[in-house]
Amino acid sequence: MENEALEVIYTRRSVRSFTGEAISRESLMKILKAGMAAPSARNIQPWAFVAVTERGPLDSLCERLPYAKMLDKAGAAIIVCGLPGKDAVSVGQYKDAIGGKYWVLDCSAAAENILLACHAMGFGAVWTAAYPNEDRMAVVRDVIGVPEDVMPLAVIPIGVPRDKGKVTDKFKEANIHWDRW
Ligand SMILES: Cc1cc2nc3c(=O)[nH]c(=O)nc-3n(C[C@H](O)[C@H](O)[C@H](O)COP(=O)(O)O)c2cc1C
Repeated sequence: MENEALEVIYTRRSVRSFTGEAISRESLMKILKAGMAAPSARNIQPWAFVAVTERGPLDSLCERLPYAKMLDKAGAAIIVCGLPGKDAVSVGQYKDAIGGKYWVLDCSAAAENILLACHAMGFGAVWTAAYPNEDRMAVVRDVIGVPEDVMPLAVIPIGVPRDKGKVTDKFKEANIHWDRW
C-alpha cells in the first residue's frame, strides 16, 4: 500500500474477540491523544473520556450491557462522553448558531479516531453504543459514575485480538455520485 494511514483506514474492522491481556496506560494515552485530535465544530472539543482498566467495572459493564459482551476479555475500555453544556457555550460570531447540537458528531469523530489508533497500534476495538439508548446510558452512569449532564456516547472495548480476522472491502462504486445526484 502506498500510504500507511490509508492502509490503517482501509483495514480497520470491529474486533470482538480478545486474549484478555491488559492494555498499558502508556498505550491508552496514545489512543486517547488520537481521540482528542479529532475535528469538532468550532473546535469546542465537547468531549471527555473514561479509560477503564480495572476488572471490576469492566465486568459490571459486561454483565449489564447487552451488546458489549466482548468486554469479558477486553484489556481496557474507553468510554467516549459528550459535554452538551460545553457545546452550548456561545463563542463570538457563532453566538446564535450554538445550543449543544454538535456534540454527537464531534464525539463520533473522536470515537472513530480511537478505533483507528487502536488498529494502527495492533489492538482490536469495537464501538458499542450507549447513546441514544437511555437504558444503556443509565448502566454506564451507574457503573462509572458519569454525571447527569455528561452523555456517555460509546463504550469501546480494546484488547489484543485473539485471531487475525478478515477484512471485508466495503467500497461500493454505486454510493458515489460525481458532481450531481
Ligand atoms: C453507532 C454505532 C454503534 C454500534 N454499536 C455496536 C454494539 O453495540 N455492539 C457491537 O458489537 N458493535 C457495534 N457497532 C459496530 C458495528 O456493528 C460495525 O461497525 C459494523 O458491523 C461494520 O463492521 P466493521 O466495523 O468491522 O467495519 C456499532 C457501530 C456504530 C458506528
